[in-house]
Amino acid sequence: MLTKVHTGLEAVPGIWWQPAHKTEKVWVAVAFAWCMVLFAMMPLWHWKGGQNPSGVRTRVDPKAYFARTVKFAQQYKVGDDRGIPIVQPPPGADVYLVGLTYQWYPILKLEQGKEYMLHMSSLDVNHGFSLYPLNVNFAVVPTFDYALRVTPTAAGDFRIICNEFCGIGHHTMVGRVIVVDSAGRSVADNTGARVGYGGAR
Ligand code: CUA
Repeated sequence: MLTKVHTGLEAVPGIWWQPAHKTEKVWVAVAFAWCMVLFAMMPLWHWKGGQNPSGVRTRVDPKAYFARTVKFAQQYKVGDDRGIPIVQPPPGADVYLVGLTYQWYPILKLEQGKEYMLHMSSLDVNHGFSLYPLNVNFAVVPTFDYALRVTPTAAGDFRIICNEFCGIGHHTMVGRVIVVDSAGRSVADNTGARVGYGGAR
């Protein structure tokens, strides 16, 4: 049982007032140097790290962005999947994708090995762009247009999963990105897969 109550009137037991031992100084110096390395990594990684998005961010009015996306979809529409247009813009074009409760609009059809400027924004709340089965993730935030320079490296029929809880229909918010190879073929045939409006059931 603790019977002795320490007060400020008595000296604390120990030798804390003695000069620090050499090894302690060394360890503090090592920790500080490592802190500086990690600190330097933040700006360094921004330029050297391959995972950081390279693109532009601009403020945007969600309704104006949506209108721009609809216009884009009408301009390059090549098909339709359950009411959602399949849109094939020419390589190098600005590509618009919008997240809204609870769908990704439109369906994008891109060509492998070609560069596009992919714009992403939301009409309402925060959504999460997650490209399956690849590991590509990005926050989709209303009032911000995030534009990324992207070059699809693999052909296939990919799904965009919303990875940010956005409401009651969050789990049904599935979009589609079709990447065709240089011969114009879609490698995977997922035409039977369900997308949007209720999702997989
Ligand atoms: Cu959109 Cu979850």
